[in-house]
Formats: sequence, C-alpha cells, structure tokens
Amino acid sequence: MAEILAIYPGSFDPITNGHLDLIERGSQLFDRLIVAVLTNLEKNPLFTVPERVEMLRETAHAIPNVSVDTFSGLLVDYARQKQAKVILRGIRAFTDYEYELQMALMNRKLAPDLETVFLMPALAYTYVSSRLVREVYQHGGTVTCLVPPLVEARLHQKVFQGKK
Ligand code: PNS
Repeated sequence: MAEILAIYPGSFDPITNGHLDLIERGSQLFDRLIVAVLTNLEKNPLFTVPERVEMLRETAHAIPNVSVDTFSGLLVDYARQKQAKVILRGIRAFTDYEYELQMALMNRKLAPDLETVFLMPALAYTYVSSRLVREVYQHGGTVTCLVPPLVEARLHQKVFQGKK
C-alpha cells in the first residue's frame, strides 16, 4: 500500500505541548508527517517564522517520521505539491469545531481527494493555545508544563530580554 503523508498546518506561535501531543499522535498514525508553518500570517506574530521552525525542529527532532517545513498561499496547493493525502488538525473543544469544520469543508471543495483528519490532544492540554500562552507569559504568568522547556526559554528571551 502507498505510504500516507499527512500535513499538520498551523501558525505555531509558539509550539505548545498540545501541538506536540498531536504531532506524536499523528506520527503514529501516518507514515510521514510534515508540520507546516504558514508564512503569510495576517496576525502580528510574536516569533518570526524561522524562530518557530527552529523551535518545532528542536522539539520534534527525536520523532523520525516528522519533518518541519513552511508554506504560503493555499494549503491545498501545498498539499498537492507534496502529494499528501491527509491534513491533520487538532480539536480541543466545541468552540474549535465550527472554524475547523469550515476550513475542512472549504479544503474539501478545493481538493476533494485530500482528507482532513481531526485528533483530540490529551485532556490536560485541551485549554492550551498559543495565544493564551503568549498572553499569560507576557503578563508574568507561568507556562511551565504547557510548552516544551526550550519554548519557555525562548519566550523568556523574547519577552524579557527584548530579543528580536
Ligand atoms: O494555527 P492556525 O492559525 O489555526 O492555522 C490556520 C491555518 C494555517 C491552518 C489556515 O489559516 C490555513 O490553512 N491557511 C492557508 C491558506 C488557506 O489555505 N486558506 C483556506 C483554508 S480553508
């Protein structure tokens, strides 16, 4: 049977333990998994794309069938270029569902052969998001256990040492 390549797209600003949990689950389900960082983000990111890619690579380097890449433009075009069969996304709570359903159905309309697969992260991470991690950290709260240790160190450099 042909190998199944899945793409896990997102902003990853920064990667959280919830993302990592999903990467681990995805790596066990699919032959290969590409974590793909969107480069043309409309939001104002905290970390640059190269910083986010580096954190993802350092965090996921021990998982042999996972690689990290960037993409711009439409996700379906990138997936087609990579010959991926699956888009992997995480759903934490009901509130994620509407947005995710819209994206999955639009992607299906654009690329009917590409299947979106949703996985749930471990219960402990269902409330964790990059946005909340950024917000909590910027206001002096602790995010230990919610992000990989190297991400916490990079947050410290970025927020308190003003590293560009
Ligand atoms: O982590 P995020 O920000 O929720 O990820 C959103 C992402 C990157 C998956 C989504 O914005 C996306 O796929 N953007 C690429 C442009 C695209 O294909 N848009 C149509 C999707 S329906």
